[in-house]
Amino acid sequence: EKGGYDYFMLKEIAEQPKAVADTLLGRIDAAGSLTLDEVRIPPGVLREVDKVVIVACGTAFHAGLIAKYAIEHWTRIPCEVELASEFRYRDPILDSRSLVIAISQSGETMDTLMALRHAREQGSCVLAICNTNGSTIPRESDAVLYTHAGPEVAVASTKAFLTQLVACYLVALYLGQVRGTKWADEIRAVIRDLAQISGQVERVLETMEPVRELARSLAEKRTVLFLGRHVGYPVALEGALKLKELAYMHAEGFAAGELKHGPIALVEEDLPVVVVVPSPRGRSVLHDKIVSNIQEIRARGARTIVIAEEGDEAVVPYADHLVRIPATPTLLQPLVATVPLQVFACELATARGNEVDQPRNLAKSVTVE
Ligand code: F6R
Repeated sequence: EKGGYDYFMLKEIAEQPKAVADTLLGRIDAAGSLTLDEVRIPPGVLREVDKVVIVACGTAFHAGLIAKYAIEHWTRIPCEVELASEFRYRDPILDSRSLVIAISQSGETMDTLMALRHAREQGSCVLAICNTNGSTIPRESDAVLYTHAGPEVAVASTKAFLTQLVACYLVALYLGQVRGTKWADEIRAVIRDLAQISGQVERVLETMEPVRELARSLAEKRTVLFLGRHVGYPVALEGALKLKELAYMHAEGFAAGELKHGPIALVEEDLPVVVVVPSPRGRSVLHDKIVSNIQEIRARGARTIVIAEEGDEAVVPYADHLVRIPATPTLLQPLVATVPLQVFACELATARGNEVDQPRNLAKSVTVE
């Protein structure tokens, strides 16, 4: 049932191109418009929404952090993202014009479920993004958009994460479509870019041997840091989470702009630091800033592991290890940038003799608080 792979996690990493494509399938009509009829929220309600609040835990929370960039950029609706476990005890401000999005692979996570119950009590409309048909979270929500990742067995989430991102992009575009802030041709252009992603993830997967080799060489390290900016920041958080749960190593993700406000004090000789570099096209300011961040940490002895777009030459002089990813629009980069981090964590876990599919102390679905 592992399809020839040693671990479910490897199989699920490899299934990501298909999972991404399946999650897009049937959701775009011949004219290039989104047809999210399954999301049975009346357009009138969506037009009235004045705030989006995303609640989730763990990896699904990281998908939510990325969704915020897309939702605010494409719809101009303010969007908050909060850990479900914090949200539900905070007395959050919600009403009938708030759209609450609950993201959950399993559909059974207790904190996320409690957060959405609380939101519905305040009169908010709740949309679930979920991978498990008929599970509790979608059953208790007003609407659901299913991710089509297929069953995810490994405790560490991989393909579900990528499909959560796709679903979030679709919701953001759909909101834009219904509210008229995104026009058909713009939506078509993003959809075209999204349709390319599956093949690009495939290409990333084909070039992962150096990443595995690098991971094995770092098996004795105690700490790895991850840096990113913009949507690369949640990717850094996700890379660190994967490493903690699988390799049982101390790992932390930072917004690169925060370096000088504390974390740079952690940098010492030969400390591995993974840096997710935004595209040099488009928002080039971000790119330039991160190149200086890489220089700064390297000057202090860090061993830099740089994830950068193909053709980005500016990073070459400062990268001790360079991992190439295909060029994508800035907002979609997490779909390709996360993949090397998954492979990295999985290989490090193996090299350290850990149980990849069943990390210690963790359960696939957290149905208690
Ligand atoms: C990390 C991981 C967990 C889950 C979290 C939420 O790899 O798997 O952090 O993402 O427990 O689970 P769901 O999405 O089922 O609500």
